[in-house]
Amino acid sequence: MINCSNVSFHYPNGQGIHNIDLTIEIRSIYLLAGMNGSGKSTLLKVLAGGLTADTGSISVNGLDLKQSRSKKNLFFTIALSPQQPETQFSLPTVLDELRFTAYATKQPIAADMEAELIHLFQLKPYLDASPFDLPPVKRKLLSLAIAAVIPSPFIALDEPTAGIDREHKPLVLQFIRFLHTHNKGVIIVSHDIDTFLPTATHVGIMKNGTIVESTDTNSFLQKLIQDRYDRDIAKPFVIPRMARFLTSNPASSVDELAGLIKEHISKYKK
Ligand SMILES: Nc1ncnc2c1ncn2[C@@H]1O[C@H](COP(=O)(O)OP(=O)(O)O)[C@@H](O)[C@H]1O
Ligand SMILES: [Mg+2]
Repeated sequence: MINCSNVSFHYPNGQGIHNIDLTIEIRSIYLLAGMNGSGKSTLLKVLAGGLTADTGSISVNGLDLKQSRSKKNLFFTIALSPQQPETQFSLPTVLDELRFTAYATKQPIAADMEAELIHLFQLKPYLDASPFDLPPVKRKLLSLAIAAVIPSPFIALDEPTAGIDREHKPLVLQFIRFLHTHNKGVIIVSHDIDTFLPTATHVGIMKNGTIVESTDTNSFLQKLIQDRYDRDIAKPFVIPRMARFLTSNPASSVDELAGLIKEHISKYKK
């Protein structure tokens, strides 16, 4: 379990995240949503050790990471696939990138994991290529694979479908199920709610640098249907569907529309 208590981080300009209290269960699939600039990427970087919290504590499976581990080790506890994959590439070939963590930590390569990911993402023809020469979709998939081969109990994916076309999106979902079967907890930051909400076990919402909701998906949907969230929290979860219903059903009244949305959302509760 990840436990954040009163975690804050501020950039020199004063922006950042504040007073984060958050629990993420082992093997959960945690969808973290929120508007642009609400602090999602910053929180993931702090969790993965790329940024060091100014205050508060983070523990994973009972181990206090700030006290007992270096920043580097934090990365091996919560591996991160960043929003921009290019920021993590530094080696000559795709295979080097995949194996870097094993080299760096003098650990044996998780060969089955590596082989399965190369197969799933069809990376074989590219193994000797430079990561920068990959088509953009493959670059993002490689970034997901690099984080996945790290033998960490948690993996954080920042916008895993950014730059992924419709044809390849099912692969990302397959990847998340793959991680789940390998007993990893998965934290997904995404605007792509339609893709991830049906698989998420938990939902978190960030607003103005803090967590304003964190609960299991069923409770979240119940509260959404009961209209218990402020409009700015509910909107991203409802508007994409509303737009779709309006397109297919331009004459609907508002009440009809609300009914359709509730019906649509209730499907996810099963
Ligand atoms: N490197 C940075 N330097 C200064 N401010 C930043 C930096 N990165 C992000 N911010 C600011 O911190 C806040 C949170 O950003 P971010 O974590 O990227 O949000 P999100 O991922 O939810 O869009 C925003 O106000 C953003 O402008
Ligand atoms: Mg972001």
